Amino acid sequence: MAGKAWRSAILNLLTKLGLSINGKDKLKPQELSQVVGALKNETPQSRTFIRGIQTVTLIPGDGIGPEISNAVMKIFEAAKAPIRWEERNVTAIRGPGGKWMIPPDAKESMDKNKIGLKGPLKTPIAAGHPSMNLLLRKTFDLYANVRPCVSIEGYQTPYTDVNLVTIRENTEGEYSGIEHVIVDGVVQSIKLITEQASKRIAEYAFEYARNNQRASVTAVHKANIMRMSDGLFLRKCREAAEKYKDVKFTEMYLDTVCLNMVQDPTQFDVLVMPNLYGDILSDLCAGLIGGLGVTPSGNIGANGVAIFESVHGTAPDIAGKDLANPTALLLSAVMMLRHMGLHGHAKKIESACFDTIRDRKVLTKDLGGNSKCSEFTEAICQRMKDMD
Ligand SMILES: NC(=O)c1ccc[n+]([C@@H]2O[C@H](COP(=O)([O-])OP(=O)(O)OC[C@H]3O[C@@H](n4cnc5c(N)ncnc54)[C@H](O)[C@@H]3O)[C@@H](O)[C@H]2O)c1
Repeated sequence: MAGKAWRSAILNLLTKLGLSINGKDKLKPQELSQVVGALKNETPQSRTFIRGIQTVTLIPGDGIGPEISNAVMKIFEAAKAPIRWEERNVTAIRGPGGKWMIPPDAKESMDKNKIGLKGPLKTPIAAGHPSMNLLLRKTFDLYANVRPCVSIEGYQTPYTDVNLVTIRENTEGEYSGIEHVIVDGVVQSIKLITEQASKRIAEYAFEYARNNQRASVTAVHKANIMRMSDGLFLRKCREAAEKYKDVKFTEMYLDTVCLNMVQDPTQFDVLVMPNLYGDILSDLCAGLIGGLGVTPSGNIGANGVAIFESVHGTAPDIAGKDLANPTALLLSAVMMLRHMGLHGHAKKIESACFDTIRDRKVLTKDLGGNSKCSEFTEAICQRMKDMD
């Protein structure tokens, strides 16, 4: 990127975040979403229970996406969850001026419904359209990626009793997409950290901890090395901690967190961090409980928008073979139900899923079994019918 181009890229990003380049403009306070994703103790929150059927935008995605989406729809039907699905494809299209964008009907659906469930989307490597996941994040300003990692009984890993949540800043940091060549053979990437985005994610983490009866928040950083950027992030975490005295606050270097995490993950509760650290640490934490096939996730945006998604890829090697494990998308849909205040349905589906895994009779191959996706789905549906 030429000098002028990257300056204007930074300016564009700052404008999008509501900041001026000289920092004089006052920031508009943004509404903090309050996702209820992984309760430490299952006590329904004091959220308004919304009656009636609600419409959710469903983006089945590519590869195994349609298969696992069908599984979720079947299980929701068996649970009599009051959800109507509005299916939309998210294929990259070029808008005016050649800019990549998500299809307008998908955007309109999300703008209207506010809540979405998304399967995996394929990304071409180093050419073609950009990551549609990134585009969705940017389009809807999905600033917080929330990933609860809770040990699943019956699915053995070297770790037991893991129960933590990673909260990753999703909009800036190393993922600002601002890179340029300084001279031949020398490139530079900008790690952009702003006061607004740091404040918003820090306050979200504390709000999340409070709403989900979680006792502590750990800020993960490298402010000893990146004194200005991570220093600003850490300062905003410390300031947020002052407003949430009921939640314990600790701060820890990223490398120390990694070491302590693999030694004893039970010491962690909620962790909040900038973008790249979150990308890596959240996958590491998913590994502690059995991998991406069983890890749910939610992306929380400004103004009430939220998209819940499985974090594994499109699994092209098993697509169309009825071999996929729908657990990650199903547990993401359970997070979505809690976010919507539908705790009863969330608990029912989650219990049926965990009981089926604990029973070990009907499991997909990745979970150590021999069953098809459709058989695993049917076993969960049958359990819910038996609960009625
Ligand atoms: N969130 C997303 O949309 C997302 C995330 C990661 C990768 N991708 C995309 O997916 C494509 C393939 O990526 P990849 O091969 O690196 O990773 P992948 O997650 O698709 O596959 C890695 C391995 O895990 C298995 N696997 C993944 N999900 C599974 C499931 N639900 N049940 C059973 N097995 C499962 C696959 O069969 C494969 O062996 C790429 O185009 C990539 O860009 C999308």
